[in-house]
Amino acid sequence: MTPIENIMKRISLLLLLAACCLASPALRAKDDLTVDVIPRPALVETGKGTFRAAGAYFNCDPRIEVRTQRAIRALADRITFVSGRTCSFASPVGLTPAAAESKRTKGFLFLKEEAMGDEAYTIDISPKACIVKAGGHSGFLYALQTLRQLMPVSIFGMQTDASEHFPMPCVKIADKPRFGYRGLLLDCSRHFYPVEDIKKTLDLMLLFKMNRFHWHLTDDQGWRVEIKKYPRLTQVGAFRTGTMVGKDFDSNDGVRYGGYYTQDQMREIVAYAEERGITVIPEIDLPGHMQGALAAYPQLGCTGGPYTVRTTWGVSEEVLCAGKEESYQFLEDVFTELMDIFPSEYFHIGGDECPKKEWSHCPSCQERIRQLGLKADGKHSAEVYLQNYVTARVQKFLAEHGRKIIGWDEIFEGDLAEGATVMSWRGVESGQQAAAAGYDVIMTPKWYCYLNYLQSEDPSTEPLGHGHFLPLDKAYSYEPFEGLDASAEGHILGVQANMWTEYIATQEHMEYMLLPRMVALAEVQWSPRDAKDYGRFYASLKRKGYEIFKQLGYNYRTY
Ligand code: ACM
Ligand code: ZN
Repeated sequence: MTPIENIMKRISLLLLLAACCLASPALRAKDDLTVDVIPRPALVETGKGTFRAAGAYFNCDPRIEVRTQRAIRALADRITFVSGRTCSFASPVGLTPAAAESKRTKGFLFLKEEAMGDEAYTIDISPKACIVKAGGHSGFLYALQTLRQLMPVSIFGMQTDASEHFPMPCVKIADKPRFGYRGLLLDCSRHFYPVEDIKKTLDLMLLFKMNRFHWHLTDDQGWRVEIKKYPRLTQVGAFRTGTMVGKDFDSNDGVRYGGYYTQDQMREIVAYAEERGITVIPEIDLPGHMQGALAAYPQLGCTGGPYTVRTTWGVSEEVLCAGKEESYQFLEDVFTELMDIFPSEYFHIGGDECPKKEWSHCPSCQERIRQLGLKADGKHSAEVYLQNYVTARVQKFLAEHGRKIIGWDEIFEGDLAEGATVMSWRGVESGQQAAAAGYDVIMTPKWYCYLNYLQSEDPSTEPLGHGHFLPLDKAYSYEPFEGLDASAEGHILGVQANMWTEYIATQEHMEYMLLPRMVALAEVQWSPRDAKDYGRFYASLKRKGYEIFKQLGYNYRTY
């Protein structure tokens, strides 16, 4: 090689590394089916040979946060446990990036690169070393998920295997998410999921690099959050006298059903999620879907009740009275207690499916409409504008405390105040219109993202679910920018998978509905548009994904 060629080679290598650090989605990933990482990283360059993880040294930049180091050390301990070969962990004070790289450190090397931001990471595996770089806690956590998936699946299990050297393919990965908001909703009102189940679901979220847990906590069929100022919410509102059986709306199994999360338990979930890079966004659904609360405090309804916690699915006509000042005091009190528990900048205020029948008869609601000068205008009724008023009041109250609102796409009907984020669920149109109008949007169109829909066209072959067919490839096919004006793309914060639990009473059933479709949506959320390929995804799922679910003890459906 001439000196010029040598210099040229060095420059091109440097350019490649720079590209790795920037993780430019414009650079196409080289398709290598042996790298079965889901969601597909932004950039994958395969090399030759393997790196043996069993018994390798773990060297960790001391500037990396303690909680992150804990997660890194946990991987070292896991390899040690499964392989029987000790992976020592060290975080030496003198381990600057330059020192580490000049020594050509053997084994794992974790280096902090501030400039990379919070969620990006790079992995460079050669036969001698596995070098991981990230800027923050989430980036390292995501790198760890990728490393786990690059190892033999026994890393996820409880079996020890002394013959396992944990070979990993030599590969360069530069990765960062396509969207900042990568959500999963879990409805804990229709059915109640204990803290341990939620933790298991959060673990799954981290494995597939999802970062927002939208916790649907209140609805007509049960109020599930302890609010100290309103004890009847959980004494009364958290329990129903029975539940409809199957799809028979005239039935009732007569079994008292319910439960709620104490404030301590909610804090525990928030901390558990945070450790995994996940923000918990609580939802108090209002002003509809509130029959659970009305059963506890009937004076908050238009008629004064009495109300009972609903025993059938479907939408209640009984909603929060938007006329009485007491309703607003109640909401502010509830959010005041919740703001102390949930550090999330965003709070979800529901806003979906609020029938206006009671409001149209209610003297208080009608008086409020008169006072505000709200009028039907051919597009919307005065009651639709009354819902805008409720939304705006809650938005203003939360804004005074530094929080922002997300609401289901009905909040976009009529007049929506600036600064609200719209969650588009009835289809893609509301989300696209809201984005074009300058609102931030989270896309969760039900035909692609409602994982409570059935996984077969023949309901008799599947456990109970909402009667619409949503197979794996359909979930995977979702493209959030399709049909959207390019100028509005920046308003799409991300995508969410939803798990409504009317027909899903157990963790086992829920996992069956989540897996593997949630993983398909994780790739929609994370991977660059041009890296998506259903054939490659499906092959990875079959080779690796199902095995991972099995090793970790999750229930799942196969395709
Ligand atoms: C919804 O599915 N009602 C948001
Ligand atoms: Zn009213």
